[in-house]
Amino acid sequence: EAAEKGGYPHFMLKEIFEQPKAVRDTVQIHLNKDGSVTFPDLGWTKECFENIDNILITACGTAYHAGLVAKHYIERFVKIPVSVEIASEYRYSKPLTTNRTLCIVVSQSGETIDTLEALKEAKKHGAKSLAVTNSIGSSIAREADHVVYTLAGPEIAVASTKAYTTQLVALLMLALYMAQLRGTISMDLIHKITDGLKDLPKQIEKVLKEKDHMAEVADRLIKAHDIFYLGRSIDYAIAMEGALKLKEVSYIHAESYAAGELKHGTLALITADTPVIAVATQDAVSSKMYSNIQEVKARGAEVLGIGYEDDKELGKYTTETVRIPRVDFFIAPILSVIPMQLLAYYTSVKRGNDVDKPRNLAKSVTVE
Ligand code: G6P
Repeated sequence: EAAEKGGYPHFMLKEIFEQPKAVRDTVQIHLNKDGSVTFPDLGWTKECFENIDNILITACGTAYHAGLVAKHYIERFVKIPVSVEIASEYRYSKPLTTNRTLCIVVSQSGETIDTLEALKEAKKHGAKSLAVTNSIGSSIAREADHVVYTLAGPEIAVASTKAYTTQLVALLMLALYMAQLRGTISMDLIHKITDGLKDLPKQIEKVLKEKDHMAEVADRLIKAHDIFYLGRSIDYAIAMEGALKLKEVSYIHAESYAAGELKHGTLALITADTPVIAVATQDAVSSKMYSNIQEVKARGAEVLGIGYEDDKELGKYTTETVRIPRVDFFIAPILSVIPMQLLAYYTSVKRGNDVDKPRNLAKSVTVE
């Protein structure tokens, strides 16, 4: 097993550090030389979208969080409304799915029972389907009409890291591809984002250098009972993943909140004993985030901000700041989640937990 860990003390850390390669591999297979995006195996044409008027994304856990980010991508570029449903909720609902629905399921393992059953349910209602999965020939891959593979390689640690970032990459590229086919995006914007994706592995390397910094911040979290993760827009979806990661491996209660909702209840829980992680990469709402950070700071909370290296404002309000390189704001989530993965990892290890096999959890949930 030591050999499999390739010199890392745990699979989770190894897999966090495999993200530059996993992302590079996943980007490369969908890039044309001219900077446009390609998914040749799908066999889709512009006409395919004349029969689609809504998209349903359904998944569990971390994959569900990737779906929440994808909603932003698809609605922005493809201009088709997207609903994102937890698979175990969707499958027992009375869905309004029709033959004009495209159902996208996201699953690292391709074997999660609720996701598989949700896919079958959507198909029963006539939906067309596509699976985004990391597992070739898995049950979900076989059940869906089309498959897009993430090239994360095997993920052993129960807490998903590289599978998640490659899901974000695949879903972003898929959104660009659909928009390209439908003509709802300019080639300039496609090039801008694909250039960013080509650079992404290098940018991930830079963020991974925050390793020791995150280990230090973890020292301050190990005694906490409750930690809040705040964000707006795409950063809210990332905050949800950050909180899940911490809960899974550190066993500390963490809650993610849309920062604008704070004052509708959660602010009552903020004290000097509730550290806050605030993600601020979405320029359109950054001034709102700064106000929210000031609100929690005024209640005594210590705030770790996650933002761009050239953001001069953020550091004025936070207790501590971790920086990511300036990238397109659609790509930012693929970087901003990394410090949160590292933070969860170190908090778990410093608390003496079995970080790769957290209590009560399984890598793949194949029974209900
Ligand atoms: C389990 C794992 C999670 C994962 C979820 C969905 O709960 O512990 O890490 O996100 O299942 O798994 P899937 O394989 O469908 O992505």
